[in-house]
Amino acid sequence: MKVLAVGGGGRENAAVEAFHRGGAEVFAVMKNANPGIIARSSKYKLMDEKDVEGVVAFAKECGVDLAFIGPEAPLEVGLSDALQAAGIKCASPTKSAARIETSKSFMRELVNKYSIAGNLEYASFDNAKDCEEYLRTIDHEIVVKPVGLTGGKGVKVQGEHLLSFEDTMAYVNEIFENNIGGAGVIIEEKAVGEEFTQMVFCDGKRIVPMPLVQDHKRAYEGDVGPNTGGMGSYSDCNHLLPFITSGERQAAIDIIQKVIDAMAKEGCPYHGVLYGQFMLTAKGPKIIEFNARFGDPEAMNVLSILKTNFQDVCMMMADGCLKDNIRFEYKATVCKYVVPKGYGVKSEVGKEISFDTEGIEKSGAVVYYANIDEKDGKLVTMSSRSAGIVGIGYYLEEAERNCEAALEFVKSDWIFVRHDIGKKELVQKRVDHMNGLRSA
Ligand code: AMP
Ligand code: GLY
Repeated sequence: MKVLAVGGGGRENAAVEAFHRGGAEVFAVMKNANPGIIARSSKYKLMDEKDVEGVVAFAKECGVDLAFIGPEAPLEVGLSDALQAAGIKCASPTKSAARIETSKSFMRELVNKYSIAGNLEYASFDNAKDCEEYLRTIDHEIVVKPVGLTGGKGVKVQGEHLLSFEDTMAYVNEIFENNIGGAGVIIEEKAVGEEFTQMVFCDGKRIVPMPLVQDHKRAYEGDVGPNTGGMGSYSDCNHLLPFITSGERQAAIDIIQKVIDAMAKEGCPYHGVLYGQFMLTAKGPKIIEFNARFGDPEAMNVLSILKTNFQDVCMMMADGCLKDNIRFEYKATVCKYVVPKGYGVKSEVGKEISFDTEGIEKSGAVVYYANIDEKDGKLVTMSSRSAGIVGIGYYLEEAERNCEAALEFVKSDWIFVRHDIGKKELVQKRVDHMNGLRSA
């Protein structure tokens, strides 16, 4: 089968690797020359992934049977719709279905309209004055978000980034003045608990859940610093996480199923991977956001242990005939992103980085390249995350150890890693935090 893979990050490298493992012939379009994707592609083109006409022309020229779109930006401009109009099956949502991610107010309104559990108090605004009036009337803690897409970096949380009313209004004004996200401001109730990611495969009606993953959004060890696209993530051998019960997980799966039902009723059936990000609170899981795609880094955790042929899963999602016998290995994974120094504030760009892939593999890990480029035959950093190292093992401790051993084979003076991710101490902190909330 000939597959088009769109996107050049770690998530897409993991998807391409899974396609390759299943025997698919890969054709790729991406902005940057991702060496992992290039190595597995029969043909690739470096281009703007939002250039819908250009991508469709390349897909037709390569004669692909199926397309898989990694990032959200091409979904927002309707790449799936255009590929399908050209007769190419697509395992990613249409523009209209992708609103579950691209418009945070669409998502909250949908959940409200269908009385789905897990919603938070929210209000959206198209001007700062109304927003200020609202903020003066409420007495719970809040989170400020641009309504539109900001690459996971637009959220500011009261008590963490926003320490006073003035801080909050300054950020609200900044969003409007600079038109961040392009669609106004949403104020949400702040949920307190432990975050987790439940991703599912979806065929418009049915869902098949993937193993749970926990991401780490903060740039620095100990969960401090600016929010990032995600510094690393882990999954456990039983497909749960150490701080969540299977009943709590089931509550999240039920929420996702109801969202999928609602989207079908709204005339925008959802085909593709859906990412549910939840805060597990003392009152169960609350919806933080949905993404119309795999999470990045979370994709690297789950695709590394996917046993079922990935292109078959994608075909079933596109065709609306998903079977529930999709299997993952019962193994733990720990992914740590190697990022350029300064990432989250101002990255060191164009700095040399090298990988001893044999050493990484011998350590029981895999490398997925991400926002990396090639210059004069050498790999160099770009402004975003450079590469994900995924350690795999029968237990979390083993997966974490393998990841750390593999990191020794990544060389550069210009990178940093959150070594605390997946370590016993941090995982235990999460368990204690959740137990404390439950017993309060
Ligand atoms: P998002 O881009 O929506 O994933 O938000 C980035 C991060 O901000 C999340 O991973 C959470 O840690 C935090 N966050 C977003 N919304 C909320 C909320 N309503 N309550 C508490 N934390 C939130
Ligand atoms: N890991 C968070 C995201 O992909 O949005």
